[in-house]
Amino acid sequence: MKLADNKATLSFSNGSASIDLPVYRGTVGPDVIDIRKLYAQTGMFTYDPGFLSTAACQSAITYIDGDKGELLYRGYPIEQLATTCDFMETCHLLLYGRLPDIAAKAEFTQRVTYHTMVNEQMQFFLRGFRRDAHPMAIMTGLVGALSAFYHDSTDIHNPEHRDISALRLIAKMPTLVAMAYKYSAGQPFMYPKNSLSYAGNFLHMMFATPCEDYVVNPVIERALDRIFVLHADHEQNASTSTVRLCGSSGTNPFAAIAAGVACLWGPAHGGANEACLNMLEDIQAMGGIAKVGQFMEQVKDKNSGVKLMGFGHRVYKNYDPRAKLMQETCKEVLASLGLENDPLFKLAMALEKIALEDDYFVQRKLYPNVDFYSGIVQRAIGIPVSLFTAIFALARTVGWIAQLNEMIGDPEYKIGRPRQLFSGSTRRDVLPIAQR
Ligand code: ACO
Repeated sequence: MKLADNKATLSFSNGSASIDLPVYRGTVGPDVIDIRKLYAQTGMFTYDPGFLSTAACQSAITYIDGDKGELLYRGYPIEQLATTCDFMETCHLLLYGRLPDIAAKAEFTQRVTYHTMVNEQMQFFLRGFRRDAHPMAIMTGLVGALSAFYHDSTDIHNPEHRDISALRLIAKMPTLVAMAYKYSAGQPFMYPKNSLSYAGNFLHMMFATPCEDYVVNPVIERALDRIFVLHADHEQNASTSTVRLCGSSGTNPFAAIAAGVACLWGPAHGGANEACLNMLEDIQAMGGIAKVGQFMEQVKDKNSGVKLMGFGHRVYKNYDPRAKLMQETCKEVLASLGLENDPLFKLAMALEKIALEDDYFVQRKLYPNVDFYSGIVQRAIGIPVSLFTAIFALARTVGWIAQLNEMIGDPEYKIGRPRQLFSGSTRRDVLPIAQR
């Protein structure tokens, strides 16, 4: 880590001696104050619920400038990656730090494709779930269960195991998500078809049946690939931090990624795309565009508990660059499927317009996030709403595993162990039950 040319001095109003703290400079973004010795020097912790001001690690993978609305994977702007590269190239970039040339891409794609099938036994495990189980409940179980099926890649301290588990996870996630869908639809599972692209194969496993082939529509294939690229990584968000924290104990990669899947499920995180589409459908049922004003009043009323889903972001205080790309894809997909007049898309545009002009949203710097449009695209493709977050998990797996592997390779890595400000009872004695 590079020391900045200044340091921080912490002083106290009670006369305790002040201390100097080192400041480090990244390649871009805010400097950080190193407080690792704070407790040893002062007997105090820092207090930062929700990690609003805490860098929990150093990372060279993804950088977000929330004020500018900029997202870079390994230095490359998301706009360039989404328009020039496909998901396999993006995975290579995130995992190994460089964009592949033609030969490296072919080799990487082949290495991933080799692992697309899952152990045949997994389907019997899946059959233990209720047919109406939420796909994220199934995914949490299936991804965790991978550690029981692939013992030869569970040692997180072995670089070869880390590489194989990364390839396995990227390759098998589409197979598992499609299996979860087929199970709920009561259709037979479709084996992967390795002659297809990553996105094409997923569409095949989702929509083909043994009695009918599925011809991949290139517009839909590209749209899905773009969804994967846009969701591939996003720095130290809640699920990625969960994966890091979980993996910091030395647990196996499949278990750590299962923890990420569980975290992503929440409506404040990956579950927002599902919540957003449900919200649009609710407004549509209330009367559509005519009711947008009334709905917005509810959103602005703090007592209503209603939020404009797909709006707002912890880091972006500007337009989420992924939302712009997703809006473009949304238009392309709807046009290719003859759904230009899709009422939910029109409704989304109307909500966006009002929100971008309304003082409530302007003052709080609330802009559409990626989930605002991704749900409409997925719905148009024929993906059921309940599967949206599982698709997000599929795409984010590469980011999770890249971040996990980066952490394990970092010489400064330690088991994660936050401290607390204790506000409970001080020591007291237990009374026998009859006297309490
Ligand atoms: N609708 C209405 N008001 C909102 C919204 C929203 N979507 N988002 C934030 N606000 C308001 C808050 O009520 C708060 O108002 P106040 O200052 O008057 O109290 C202010 O804006 C700041 O919001 P915070 O909740 O403090 O912002 P935070 O960074 O903690 O939360 C979050 C970010 C969780 C994403 C929030 O904006 C939200 O819940 N959005 C809707 C869910 C969503 O779309 N999540 C997807 C995130 S992106 C992703 O995971 C891919």
